[in-house]
Amino acid sequence: MIRLVDVSKAYVRTGLALDNVSLHVAKGEFIFLTGPSGSGKSTLLKLVFMEERPTAGEVRVSGVNSATLKRGDIAQLRRKLGVVFQDFRLLDDRTAHANVAFALEVTGAAPNVIPAKVNRLLTQVGLASKAQAFPRELSGGEQQRVAIARALVNDPFVLIADEPTGNLDDRATRGVFQLLREINAAGTAVLMATHNVELMRRSEYRTIEMLHGRLVADSADPAVAARAAARRAEDDAAARAAAVRPSVPLIDDQQDSPLTVQ
Ligand SMILES: Nc1ncnc2c1ncn2[C@@H]1O[C@H](COP(=O)(O)OP(=O)(O)OP(=O)(O)O)[C@@H](O)[C@H]1O
Ligand SMILES: [Mg+2]
Repeated sequence: MIRLVDVSKAYVRTGLALDNVSLHVAKGEFIFLTGPSGSGKSTLLKLVFMEERPTAGEVRVSGVNSATLKRGDIAQLRRKLGVVFQDFRLLDDRTAHANVAFALEVTGAAPNVIPAKVNRLLTQVGLASKAQAFPRELSGGEQQRVAIARALVNDPFVLIADEPTGNLDDRATRGVFQLLREINAAGTAVLMATHNVELMRRSEYRTIEMLHGRLVADSADPAVAARAAARRAEDDAAARAAAVRPSVPLIDDQQDSPLTVQ
């Protein structure tokens, strides 16, 4: 369904953001992607929805391969994926209903089916009563629900969420997370970048940890953690070997400093 094979990504100005990452996401899986700021989470997600292309390796998503991408492939792929971001990205001058309807219009849905489908989606995310509200009239959690409804218009096989609860308080976070769980239970895979340790701790979903552009832990594949540990040991050994040894013995400050002599 989604497969990354030996993927590296170097940005022109900032260098290596992903370092030889391999990953398989199965149909209907829920995956947390975690790791410190700058570790490559957003970059990995952008490669999956093909906003970025890998520098090396291959990204395969639902029959589309980054190495043999043809004109039109990306548009076709985007119709099968839903994406939500930390900052919601709604159109401010349109109501909740119109935001979701617009996403359907651009995919060429028949005008007569749009209102019913929008109502169904807004009901699914618990916002039927706010259909006529503008984004500025909605709380952060409600705006994210509209964004999720919009991401679901094409019945995607995967929902990609880049820190979807990053701007929300605890209560709204729990609500949005519960919604993502329901969407996943109905069969849609969810790939979610998050810093929220509580969410990860309270659920049994597969958790992948990144550091410096590498996968360093995968709860579904302990071999990833073992490889990362072996690589760390190699790096440490290389660093020790490269360290310049002092030509004179080090002086123990505590004992020999004049300041400590009584
Ligand atoms: N568009 C870009 N152009 C150049 N460099 C980029 C770009 N996007 C990300 N980077 C670099 O790639 C690295 C990984 O960034 P990325 O946004 O993937 O991290 P992240 O794990 O999502 O971090 P955060 O938790 O802060 O969102 C960073 O060092 C960053 O500077
Ligand atoms: Mg990010």
